[in-house]
Amino acid sequence: MANDASAVFDARSPQSLADPFTPPADSSLWRKNFLLGAATASYQIEGAVAEDGRLPSIWDTFSATPGKVLAGDTGAVACDHYHRWQEDVDMLAGLGLEAYRLSIAWPRVMDASGAPNRKGLDFYKRLLARLKEKGIATSVTLYHWDLPQHLEDRGGWLNRDTAYRFADYADLMSRELAGSVDAWSTLNEPWCSAYLGYGNGHHAPGLADGRFATQAMHHLLLAHGLALPVLRANDPASQKGIVANMGRGTANSDSAADRRATYLFEVQHNAWILDPLLKGAYPRDLFELWPGTEPLVLDGDMQTIAAPLDFLGVNYYFRTNLASDGAHGFREVPPQGVERTQMGWEVYPDGLRDLLTGFRKTYANLPPIYITENGMASDDKVTDGRVDDTQRIAFLKRHLAAVDQAIKAGVDVRGYFLWSLMDNFEWAFGYERRFGVVHVDYATQKRTIKRSAELVAKFLRERKART
Ligand code: FCB
Repeated sequence: MANDASAVFDARSPQSLADPFTPPADSSLWRKNFLLGAATASYQIEGAVAEDGRLPSIWDTFSATPGKVLAGDTGAVACDHYHRWQEDVDMLAGLGLEAYRLSIAWPRVMDASGAPNRKGLDFYKRLLARLKEKGIATSVTLYHWDLPQHLEDRGGWLNRDTAYRFADYADLMSRELAGSVDAWSTLNEPWCSAYLGYGNGHHAPGLADGRFATQAMHHLLLAHGLALPVLRANDPASQKGIVANMGRGTANSDSAADRRATYLFEVQHNAWILDPLLKGAYPRDLFELWPGTEPLVLDGDMQTIAAPLDFLGVNYYFRTNLASDGAHGFREVPPQGVERTQMGWEVYPDGLRDLLTGFRKTYANLPPIYITENGMASDDKVTDGRVDDTQRIAFLKRHLAAVDQAIKAGVDVRGYFLWSLMDNFEWAFGYERRFGVVHVDYATQKRTIKRSAELVAKFLRERKART
């Protein structure tokens, strides 16, 4: 039996006009040039890992290794998007989403000799053409972690040669897809590739050595820098940038030691990537934190890495509360009694605002920003054909309010992508963690629009009607 409180959240109720998502009238989100979209990544949704000549990636290998992924899940089928892409694009269009961020699976489009795989390329051509037809802007990431396994077998990101292979891949893609991509991102979250992949081994390829992490990072950033001029030459009209996950640290106390620990945490998460890109140098403090891990840098590398960007993609999820570890580093002090998500991540929208306003102060040449990922996981269930993801609705509303505050404080934020369009393979956590605004039943592949997506769609309709 419905009570008064539940009626407020019922889509069919007239009271839902005062819905729990729609931004206030003075929010910059009402500006029609603020792009609102959704994001996914190839390995997390496509499946069809052995079809049409796709080669194995490091995530196929890693997820097939016992103990690496929760419940032994793999991306072999995922959301079966490789076969259901038309239905998925229709879903995006039906929700009125204005932009779609997707990634290309490198092992689907190139063979081990570097020759194009036509069948793989055709998949992305069809997908991008259909998105264009529907008037959806396209934001394409070249590398969202699915490195071809044959490159890992030759050292992966520890081998400088991989950076040159990446530039060849960027060349092929931008020649083949020129004109159908609005924004190219070279890499997704190099911090995760370098640190989780080579520093602590939580992600593929699963190596764990601090020196590996900094060397892998250098080759990732070099790959980015080598690819940029190639993308510019082949597809001049599009925007070019990179996507980075940014960590917000807060100090557990006002003591100088805790504040220093917090500063070092942000050096390790943010300046490690942003300083090379925007200042052309690694932060010295990184090597105070990790002595003896300086990567091998050749003449000219830093200039290559620091080539100007058209945009910076920022992914934000939570904050980390920190104290000094009593030596030269930091330790995490999880706050008690705070709201958390299914990942255990704290809900902390102010962190997004504070990061953005902080970057504006630190980097005089900060490019325009897109929030390329933000969202949360919850244990969503379909009941009577509906998914009431109330925690996500409040999460999105509060994080969009934080973006609005950053814009009002002078940060040039041009758009926001929900992570994620649909529930998918959440890396080391498999299918248990549900980040989608659309629910996926993995047994039947049935998609169910969650209440959060309905409310985003409602807002987009209202915004469109006003202009
Ligand atoms: C980011 C990844 C993305 C997704 C979210 C939850 O680190 O870029 O693929 O898994 O986290």
